[in-house]
Amino acid sequence: MLTQQTDDGKRSSLHGNWSSRMAFILAVTGSAVGLGNIWKFPYIAGQNGGGAFVLVYLACVILIGMPVMMSEILIGRRGRRNPVRTMELLGKEEGGSGRWRWVGGLGVVAGILILSYYSVIAGWTLAYIVKSVSGVFAGASPQAVGAEFDNFVGDWRLVGLTHTVFMGLAVFVVARGVERGLEQAVRFMVPALLVLMLVLLGYSISSGYFGQGVAFMFTPDFGALTRDSILAALGQAFFTLSIGMGAVMAYGAYLPEETSITGASAAVVTADTSIAMLAGLAIFPLVFANGLTPGDGPGLVFNTLPLAFGQMPGGVFFSTVFFVLLSFAAWTSAIGLMEPAVAWIVEHYSKTRAQATVGVGLLIWFIGLGSVLSFNVLADARFLAGTIFDNVDYLTSNVMLPLGGLLIVWFAGWVMSRNSTSDELGGSGALYKLWRFSARYLAPVGILFVLLNAIGLLG
Ligand code: PFF
Repeated sequence: MLTQQTDDGKRSSLHGNWSSRMAFILAVTGSAVGLGNIWKFPYIAGQNGGGAFVLVYLACVILIGMPVMMSEILIGRRGRRNPVRTMELLGKEEGGSGRWRWVGGLGVVAGILILSYYSVIAGWTLAYIVKSVSGVFAGASPQAVGAEFDNFVGDWRLVGLTHTVFMGLAVFVVARGVERGLEQAVRFMVPALLVLMLVLLGYSISSGYFGQGVAFMFTPDFGALTRDSILAALGQAFFTLSIGMGAVMAYGAYLPEETSITGASAAVVTADTSIAMLAGLAIFPLVFANGLTPGDGPGLVFNTLPLAFGQMPGGVFFSTVFFVLLSFAAWTSAIGLMEPAVAWIVEHYSKTRAQATVGVGLLIWFIGLGSVLSFNVLADARFLAGTIFDNVDYLTSNVMLPLGGLLIVWFAGWVMSRNSTSDELGGSGALYKLWRFSARYLAPVGILFVLLNAIGLLG
């Protein structure tokens, strides 16, 4: 195992560094902003009754997500290895145990499982580029748009094909390595996505149902909150920020010493949350304007946004650009999902990056077939949380990510010394104290509370 030391005695990364602070922020933002914001947030919020769920979600993002993200980045930068090796190395170095590597292992598995279904949904967005170009949505009725979606996901060959294409794209970028692959894509994608969300928002405001959409999203009915919807809010916070599985840790490993972790985290959390809120504000008015139901599930975005585009002047253009951007957003997230597994294999088994990526990609593709079939052939094969897709989603978002996040923030708060963490976070002022308090008490207690509450242990 290589261990390179820099002049000041710190380790340096084996995979190269980000070219600048901005490049890192862009890459983490690229990983955070994805299907989670635009596809998942609205449908999960819809299924969990809106208002109260959204408030709990926002609280989880700020009170738990932010300290966990900072912990992940600081651990990543201090360890400068893949998440498995980093946790092992720091575990020993900080007087704990090498067994902390299992936290990294949990993340590697979570990334593989998440990407297995993420790629399937990303495949839908690829198909919707083609559908947009063909003009099928122009002036289409809600029924026609709905039928278009049902026919598409009902055909396992098409869904399987687009899943395959998307995995191919993901493997291609990850195989090329950190710097060349990631940076350029995100630089224009996130701003462009923001602009298009604003266009959609404008359309939603003019739909006459904007007030109803806003009311749905922000009027809390705490009576509607169940144990499971609180857990779903926490899971969504982890999922959307890409935390709890070592992705951000893997990116942190390539972060230059002088970059502020607090500043970078705040920028990413703000960008990610804004895009999710915008997506909700654009989608819910359309849901009500067209007599659809917010709790409709994974098809929600695909059943609403094409309607709006179909009515707009220049709709074919906007719709195409939108689904291209959404596919890009999914692409940059997929990279983050593969990175822990790939970096681990490269370092642990001395494989080339290309070999590791192709191997991991094939495995993920294969597992993903379960989710491909969940919307057609195996749609009625339900157990535990529902279809195979539902189960993989539930297990990863609601169990693995919160558990991973708990262990990560616990490690940063209780196992790592004050010296190490204040060294990484740049000083011991008020901000540092706030982080440390959150990492030691607020976040662990919050996560534990939600997890124990969900399994009914809190009465
Ligand atoms: N944050 C991504 C999204 O919201 O779409 C999903 C994701 C990407 C989760 C990368 C985890 C990860 F490592």
